[in-house]
Amino acid sequence: MELLKINNLKTYFEISAGTVKAVDGVSFSLNYGESLGLVGESGCGKTTTALSINRLLPQEGKILGGEILLEGRDISKLKESEIKKLRWNEISMIFQGAMNALNPVMKIGDQIAEAIVLHKKVSYKEAIKRSKELFELVELEPERITNYPHEFSGGMKQRAMIAMALACDPKLIIGDEPTTALDVMVQAQILNLLDKLRKELNMGIIIITHDLSILGETCDKIAVMYAGKIAEFGTVEDIYNNNMHPYTNKLLSSFPNIHKEKIIPEPIEGVPPDLINPPSGCRFHPRCPYAQDICAKEEPMMTKVSEGHEYACHFGGVFNEKE
Ligand SMILES: Nc1ncnc2c1ncn2[C@@H]1O[C@H](COP(=O)(O)OP(=O)(O)OP(=O)(O)O)[C@@H](O)[C@H]1O
Ligand code: SF4
Ligand SMILES: [Mg+2]
Repeated sequence: MELLKINNLKTYFEISAGTVKAVDGVSFSLNYGESLGLVGESGCGKTTTALSINRLLPQEGKILGGEILLEGRDISKLKESEIKKLRWNEISMIFQGAMNALNPVMKIGDQIAEAIVLHKKVSYKEAIKRSKELFELVELEPERITNYPHEFSGGMKQRAMIAMALACDPKLIIGDEPTTALDVMVQAQILNLLDKLRKELNMGIIIITHDLSILGETCDKIAVMYAGKIAEFGTVEDIYNNNMHPYTNKLLSSFPNIHKEKIIPEPIEGVPPDLINPPSGCRFHPRCPYAQDICAKEEPMMTKVSEGHEYACHFGGVFNEKE
């Protein structure tokens, strides 16, 4: 059985200006021990997808359709009291800049222990013991649980946040831009750490980022999102070397790639659309250099290339055609 299966998820925000279709028919799946990168430009619905899974949406955000199956059980319709039991215990989330959420006047170990006592209902002494084990797991010295946040570097604080996310042995961890605030070296260390942990603990991991270039080494699968929809889904190999969707292709060219020929990264012209009134047909058509008449009229359905590799475009792989 898959760990997570999302079917046709629709999450909209009802605001005074209208209905923001932030996640509009998203489907993907994840197995135990697997890691999935969720990528796309700002505003394409990555965080909304994550907040839908963990049901941490703001009041104006509602799941209006689809299923979120965690070990086969649809958690999209659970009551708040039931979903509360799943947070931390089954699904943990590491937010962007989460390290800044540490309480500056409380020892880090106490903050982790507090979370453990709350969710695991164990004694404080046991929770401190567990905090030390977790510190070891995230490669921090266990004695340092008595430090305050200001005594830690940014990377160490983010490791402590990962330790906290692991506190209740979740099956799934979602990292929303977990390394964005860190320098490139520390970013790589944190991603490698998450990679090591998911293999050791057989957890599923979803890493959300706008930077496709950081996922190659640490993910099994990649879902490319554009304007609230999945543009392409596949293994790292499919997405890096056999991509079919013009958006994936453009997104890859917009970041430097040390493994490929040295070219100046090309930004994608234009900006992602307003999701209150998204473009008709293929939502990428106003920015797509390969758009034809049909693209503005008909929404492209998912086309399967091979097992687990799918894309939504009327002219998949068009950029490979010789003139
Ligand atoms: N609370 C909200 N109220 C109204 N609209 C929202 C709200 N939160 C997000 N949105 C809109 O939903 C869409 C998706 O936003 P989301 O934050 O999921 O994107 P994202 O891919 O995570 O972007 P980023 O890379 O900037 O974090 C955007 O159009 C955004 O403006
Ligand atoms: S469907 Fe048309 S507009 Fe959309 S990505 Fe494909 S070619 Fe471009
Ligand atoms: Mg986001």
